Amino acid sequence: MSSPGATVPVIDSTAVFKEDIFRNKVLFCTGGGSGICRVMTEAVLKHGAKATIVGRKLDRLTQAANELSEATGSTCIPVQADVRIPQQLKDAVKKTIEQFGRIDFVICGAAGNFLAPISGLSENAFRTVIEIDSLGTYNTIKATLPHVRASRGSYIHVSATLHYRGTPYQAHVSAAKAAVDALSAVLAVEEGPHGVRSNVIAPGPIGGTEGMDRLSAKGPLDRSSEWETPLGRIGHSKDVANAAVFLFSDAANMVSGQRIAVDGASENVRGTL
Ligand code: HXC
Repeated sequence: MSSPGATVPVIDSTAVFKEDIFRNKVLFCTGGGSGICRVMTEAVLKHGAKATIVGRKLDRLTQAANELSEATGSTCIPVQADVRIPQQLKDAVKKTIEQFGRIDFVICGAAGNFLAPISGLSENAFRTVIEIDSLGTYNTIKATLPHVRASRGSYIHVSATLHYRGTPYQAHVSAAKAAVDALSAVLAVEEGPHGVRSNVIAPGPIGGTEGMDRLSAKGPLDRSSEWETPLGRIGHSKDVANAAVFLFSDAANMVSGQRIAVDGASENVRGTL
């Protein structure tokens, strides 16, 4: 697909939203030590929030938290936890409350992915991705909900677009992300009366991410030549972060139960990702 004009720019959310809109707010982000979720966390910190990033690898988390704190002037703490283990998440929430006193925003972003056809996917491989993505999201919701209710806060679930159709070699992730979408929709309806919002961000092809590297590795799903979008460029992690800033902001007070694709309209074009 060719673009007749200049592509849309990649911008920083501070170019659009005031820098203090999240002052006194606290973010709890699973998967925040790397990739898209790290950039989402950075954006929320830049607008004045404090944050806990949660993941399995403490070294990576600690380095990320230090870099994020330094880059934004806000406080970011690392807490090691595996989203598949409810007690570890409860402990992570406890540490966040001890440190910051509240949780306003939750990003359910921890995910796992690899390419495998159903015929070559072991039961344990399928179960592993369901446990990280779907069960991990459920566990995160359960651990954080009392605090998010108390703050009348907001959830963002990082999903995908690949399960809107049949994407080869992605049965495990497609099933897992479909469940994530469903959890968010139910959460929005059940918790709306408590003032809690829940939305899904579905990134399309985002350059420079681990997920993209895995999917575009020279192999059966190498579709990188198709990854030009109608908006003329591939996505950037900041595009996803900007959507998160909007969804957590008061400008989205009436937006809940939605799936927002950040994909440059790719999903609306037959034959692209
Ligand atoms: C087939 C595989 C496999 C592969 C692992 N398995 N890799 N099967 N092909 N390439 C199988 C293993 O053989 C094992 O099954 C089972 O999966 C569990 O593997 P473990 O390594 O023991 O699990 P674990 O250490 O918990 O690792 C989880 C993981 C791993 C998902 C397998 O890749 C991981 O930690 N990923 C986290 C980082 C990540 O994936 N980030 C990208 C997210 S991007 P057996 O039967 O042998 O016991 C993303 C975006 C999606 O999610 C949307 C993109 C558009």
